[in-house]
Amino acid sequence: MTEDIKVLFSPMSICCLKFAQEFAFKDDDVLAATYPKSGTIWMQEILPLVLNGGDLTLIHTIPNWDRVPWLEEKRLAVVLDKLTSPRAMVTHFPYHHMPPSFHASKAKVIYVMRNPKDIMVSSYYFHQMAGFLQDPGTFDEFMATFLEGRVFFGKWTDHVKSWRNAELGDRIMYITYEEMVQDLPAALRKISDFLGRNLSEEVIQKIAEHCSFKAMKGNNMSNFDLVPNELMDSDKSPFLRKGIVGDWKNHFSAEQLARFTTAIHKELENESFSLPWSS
Ligand code: A3P
Repeated sequence: MTEDIKVLFSPMSICCLKFAQEFAFKDDDVLAATYPKSGTIWMQEILPLVLNGGDLTLIHTIPNWDRVPWLEEKRLAVVLDKLTSPRAMVTHFPYHHMPPSFHASKAKVIYVMRNPKDIMVSSYYFHQMAGFLQDPGTFDEFMATFLEGRVFFGKWTDHVKSWRNAELGDRIMYITYEEMVQDLPAALRKISDFLGRNLSEEVIQKIAEHCSFKAMKGNNMSNFDLVPNELMDSDKSPFLRKGIVGDWKNHFSAEQLARFTTAIHKELENESFSLPWSS
């Protein structure tokens, strides 16, 4: 198991990118696309429950990375045969890196967005605890690294632009981390409607309970406790860290806020979509 996990967290290689490019999407596949730290593992909990009418078996017996694998990870090749349809996957790829079979299929996508200031804070702590990522330096240094896109999967603005401008019609649904925190049952209803699942209110409430921050923290198939400390050191910072909206207010100075906001707005000024956050 430990060796498998090490492979999972090794930097992406040409061979897994090739595998992802050649991956054959099916029409009933479901994909959650996220920029890192936007709620990816949350979707790895939610999707199997929504797709299986609230059955807890998968989330209690299979680690998140195998039950809803990353499209860009080598591990997908290992677990592919064990996935039953409708298959759920996650990806951090921007839209233009999606493989040809995705475009030819009817697979659905849920794009989860999060306030970039909270993403940056979450990512700052993740870089401290993840042995496979570079040390973030000071918070101020990391802000420059983040804004310049010298992080996994590049600039947040490029990622958002790619998916917000994707012409996928009713194959794509947009949701925010903030909506999910504010009213998880409502977010689950939106997801289940999009996926054509007709879940009763009782099942929605059950799923909400099992996808709460507290429940996920206590689920060792989801909290990364199975990962050795050299790869993820939860003494430095747990993966499931705070799970709140607005933690950036505890980290940004007024000057940093102005610098961050100016940089983000400048990069999105010609876009037809607007950001859903007022601050
Ligand atoms: P914080 O570091 O702000 O706590 P990803 O899975 O994309 O890497 O995102 C990780 C972020 O999502 C972390 O944010 C984590 O705590 C948060 N998260 C995961 N599950 C959550 C849940 N059930 N409720 C709220 N936040 C959750």
